[in-house]
Amino acid sequence: MYVILFGAPGSGKGTQASRIAQKVGLAHIATGDIFRQAVQRGTELGKLAQSYMDKGQLVPDDVTIRMLIERLDGLGGASGYMLDGFPRTLAQARALDEALARREVAVDKILYIKVSNEELLRRLSGRWTCRQCGAVYHQIYQPPQEPGRCDRCGGQLYQRDDDQPATAHQRLGVYFQQTAPVLEYYRQQGKLVEVDGEPAIEDVGRSLLAALGVPSPR
Ligand code: AP5
Repeated sequence: MYVILFGAPGSGKGTQASRIAQKVGLAHIATGDIFRQAVQRGTELGKLAQSYMDKGQLVPDDVTIRMLIERLDGLGGASGYMLDGFPRTLAQARALDEALARREVAVDKILYIKVSNEELLRRLSGRWTCRQCGAVYHQIYQPPQEPGRCDRCGGQLYQRDDDQPATAHQRLGVYFQQTAPVLEYYRQQGKLVEVDGEPAIEDVGRSLLAALGVPSPR
């Protein structure tokens, strides 16, 4: 199964992918996480990506597409992927279709997590992320057991620079301008499923699993 989790910054893609990808046996690939790891390691890719991420802009298509295809190649015979944060432009969507067609497979579904702008900003401004394992928390909606410490690995929690209000607004602007048209691309292919992303994390997770045909107990 080849699934895309789609939504604006802060809609809950990372939160949901980390919970459900394993459940349905898919490899979770998040381009934002790959870029942040490259920044942490200080690689050339990381330096380049950081200059765009700091401004809330998209990393150029040629760099992002190459990186993603290399990652897919590295997964070899994986039985499927859950993509989070890719594709974000029409050029990326077309490149993904071509890459999958070369493997004689195709995107099965794109799950669009729909959330209002006010809620997106509340989620971004309250988000805390683990420096070590990347787990995501929210100071109100999903607080860690001990403030500043990751429940999963004990790592230190930090607030992403691009969640500062000015950059978060810029990222939302970029999303509506450059990324939202990707929805229409997949709508025309009949692959788009819209899921209400406003309810609590567990309920959104259940809706996503249902959209994938996987029942989950209440
Ligand atoms: P990326 O890391 O992909 O950022 P994003 O798409 O902006 O998404 P976020 O990580 O901000 O949000 P999310 O939807 O994962 O929400 P989360 O689950 O954390 O990209 C960062 C940058 O990298 C980009 O700006 C760009 O520069 C670059 N980049 C990445 N991919 C690229 C690409 N393909 N092309 C070019 N450039 C690229 O949840 C948010 C918060 O809400 C958390 O605190 C969480 O606890 C909380 N929450 C989640 N769900 C709920 C819920 N149902 N109820 C209450 N709270 C909730």
